[in-house]
Amino acid sequence: MSGAAPTQGLPALPALSQLDWQDGQLHLEGAALDALAQQHGTPLFVYSKAAMLQALAAYQRGFAGRNAQICYAMKANSSLGVLQVFARAGCGFDIVSGGELARVLAAGGDAAKVIFSGVGKTRAEMAQALDAGIGCFNVESEAELEVLSAVAQAKGQRAPVSIRVNPNVDPKTHPYISTGLKDNKFGVAHERTLATYRRAAALPGLRVVGIDCHIGSQITEPTPYLDAMDRVLDLVDQIEAAGIPIDHIDFGGGLGIDYNGDTPPAADALWAQLLARLDARGYGQRKLMIEPGRSLVGNAGVCLTEVLVLKPGEHKNFCIVDAAMNDLPRPAMYEAFHRIVPLVPKAGAATRYDVVGPICESGDWIGRDRDFDVAPGDRLAVLSAGAYCMSMASNYNTRGRPPELLVDGQKVMLIRERETVADQLRNERLQP
Ligand code: LLP
Repeated sequence: MSGAAPTQGLPALPALSQLDWQDGQLHLEGAALDALAQQHGTPLFVYSKAAMLQALAAYQRGFAGRNAQICYAMKANSSLGVLQVFARAGCGFDIVSGGELARVLAAGGDAAKVIFSGVGKTRAEMAQALDAGIGCFNVESEAELEVLSAVAQAKGQRAPVSIRVNPNVDPKTHPYISTGLKDNKFGVAHERTLATYRRAAALPGLRVVGIDCHIGSQITEPTPYLDAMDRVLDLVDQIEAAGIPIDHIDFGGGLGIDYNGDTPPAADALWAQLLARLDARGYGQRKLMIEPGRSLVGNAGVCLTEVLVLKPGEHKNFCIVDAAMNDLPRPAMYEAFHRIVPLVPKAGAATRYDVVGPICESGDWIGRDRDFDVAPGDRLAVLSAGAYCMSMASNYNTRGRPPELLVDGQKVMLIRERETVADQLRNERLQP
């Protein structure tokens, strides 16, 4: 599934994004993005609700007739207006902090459909999640089991637990976003899994409900999933043979998106293969859970930015825009590629630019060697910006984080206001 075919020489657009060219201008679900940028200022994130629901529908089709729960990995985009879309569509949530739990509840999510992942949960976060009645703790170490059992016992409860196993498969993605290899900090080693389940089953404050794994992110082929599934099912065989029943199996998230012509399998096609494997191994009727993040929101969002100045150089020309690494950290952190397109492309001769932000660091770049015909005041869209952009945005250089709009057919809703300097100074105190 590569990007939509270029229209009349206009730049290619990612699949499943609800973006298209109308009258030579970029539109999202029919909304003219240049007009939204003029009205709300830049930098500005704009999301399509239809694109999120379309991405979710692919998973729902894949799981039709099965006992499956989709838990949106909200770290990808945790804005309340985005969480509401998934809560109303019946999703659960994969959280990694007490703050994320508070967001789920504020957005009307169902605590019983929340799973709590992460290698370092505090006692206070465990207590908060027990009080809220979450569905499952994905525990990542033997030490965490002991602490969680004690916290739950003190409340007269038994915490529902699943153990995250590390299947030691290579997801063939960027090293910073691979998590299932044995040298990663995540999960319990394959060889330790049975012993860890025995310990969990013996602890008075715990109730074993599942098993889980997550091997990495931006995975673009089915093989790592199939390998991880085989390894997890081998473990389920062993654990159940030891007399510990496993109610659900959680296969994590990680499915990639089209950033630059990438061709990940569609969620329904991937799950057709995975379900065939589960059926063949006799686990087809087991309750399934997944934790997709990027593949639900990544191509549903764009970041709009204005060209401030063009700076020609001997070897490089710089196109300096008003968005920066604090708004769009992925290029600086992972050398990630995002398509960048003018909102109203011009037909003139293209110049090659590095698109960079105003922050005082050479690492503050958004795209390298991009060809277009632009002038100061023109606006650009950074595509595939729905996941891991706003949720990782910072205030570096005392820059306020951008506002966010959610487009829903004819409606355009402001779901986050632009952060002001006053917002940023609010928690700081001058010395006496
Ligand atoms: N479950 C667990 C336990 C995770 O750690 C993650 C992501 C997910 C689910 C969701 O994975 P997804 O479906 O989004 O691939 N900031 C990086 C990505 C970090 C992913 C961290 N864990 C980036 O911008 O590429």
